[in-house]
Amino acid sequence: MNKILDGKKLANELNLELKDKIELLVDNNKIRPKLATILVGDDPGSKVYVNIKHKTCAEVGISSVMIHLPADISKQELLDKIDSLNNDNSIHGILLQLPLPHELGKYTSEFIETINPYKDVDGFHPINRGKLFDYNEELVACTPKGIIRLLEHYNVELKGKNAVIVNRSILVGKPLIFMLLKRNATVTVCHTSTIDIESHIRRADVLIVAVGQPKYITKEKIKEGAIIIDVGTNRIDGKLCGDVDFEDVLDKCSKITPSPGGVGPMTINSLLQNTLIAYANQKSTK
Ligand SMILES: NC(=O)c1ccc[n+]([C@@H]2O[C@H](COP(=O)([O-])OP(=O)(O)OC[C@H]3O[C@@H](n4cnc5c(N)ncnc54)[C@H](OP(=O)(O)O)[C@@H]3O)[C@@H](O)[C@H]2O)c1
Repeated sequence: MNKILDGKKLANELNLELKDKIELLVDNNKIRPKLATILVGDDPGSKVYVNIKHKTCAEVGISSVMIHLPADISKQELLDKIDSLNNDNSIHGILLQLPLPHELGKYTSEFIETINPYKDVDGFHPINRGKLFDYNEELVACTPKGIIRLLEHYNVELKGKNAVIVNRSILVGKPLIFMLLKRNATVTVCHTSTIDIESHIRRADVLIVAVGQPKYITKEKIKEGAIIIDVGTNRIDGKLCGDVDFEDVLDKCSKITPSPGGVGPMTINSLLQNTLIAYANQKSTK
C-alpha cells in the first residue's frame, strides 16, 4: 500500500486547476487577481519563501508585487504602507512576511490588525480567526488549510479519531484545533509545557508535528498505524528535512507526508486559493 500523502503531486494538480479557473475569471472580468507581499529586511529564509510565493503566483496567472522595505523602517511607515495597499483597488490580497525584524516584531499583532480582513490571505486577522471559531473557514491560515485539503484528498476519516497536534502557534496549531474539531476529531494540543508528552503522542491516530527539530518523532514514539503529518522544515548540512525520522517510522505508520514534498507545497497552494477568495471578496463588496 502506498503510504505517502504526496503534497507535491496534489499541489501541482490543484495549481493547474487554479490556472484554468483564473484564465476564465480574467476572460470574464478583465481583472487579474493580484497579490502584494511585504518583505521587511533581508532575512535570507524570508526572501526564499517570498520568492517561491511569487514564482508560484506567476505559474497560475496571479500577478504579484513585492514591497521590499528596509529593516529600519519605522512602525508608522509600515502601517502607512499597509494602509495604502488596503486602499489600492488593484490589490486583492496582502501578505506580510513574518517574522518581522526585531524592533518591529513587537507590533506584529497591530500590523496584522491593520490589514483589511477581506485582503488577509494569511488568515491571521482577528476577524478571520474569529470566524474560524465558528467553523467558518473562508480565509484560514495556509498551512492548516493545506493539511486538511491533503487529508481530505486521501480520504482520511477524522471523525472520532484522536488527533494530536504538537504545536500551538497561530500559523499551525491554533487554527488546526478548530478545523479538526469541525471534522469531529478529538483534539489534543501539546507544547513545551506538556507533561508526559510521549503518552499523548503514543495515543495519536493522527499526529501533526511542527516543532522545528529534526528526528523529533521516531518509531518508538508513535502508535501502530498512525497517520503522520510532518510540518517541520529544518536544514541539516544544507539539506531540508522535517521533524519526523521518515525512514524509521515508515513501517509502523499507515500514512505519512514527506518533508520536503508534503505540507510545504500544499501551503503555497492554499495561499493561491486564498488570493482567489480575496479577489472574489472585493468583487462582491464593490
Ligand atoms: N511546511 C510549511 O509550510 C510550514 C509552515 C509553517 C511552519 N513550518 C515549520 O513548522 C515548524 C514550526 O513553525 P512555527 O512557526 O509554528 O514555530 P513556533 O512558533 O516556534 O512554534 C513551535 C511550536 O512547537 C512547540 N514545541 C517546540 N519544541 C517542542 C518540544 N520539544 N516539545 C513540545 N512542543 C514543542 C512550541 O511550544 P511552545 O508554544 O510551548 O513554545 C510551539 O508551540 C518550523 O519548523 C517551521 O519551519 C512549516
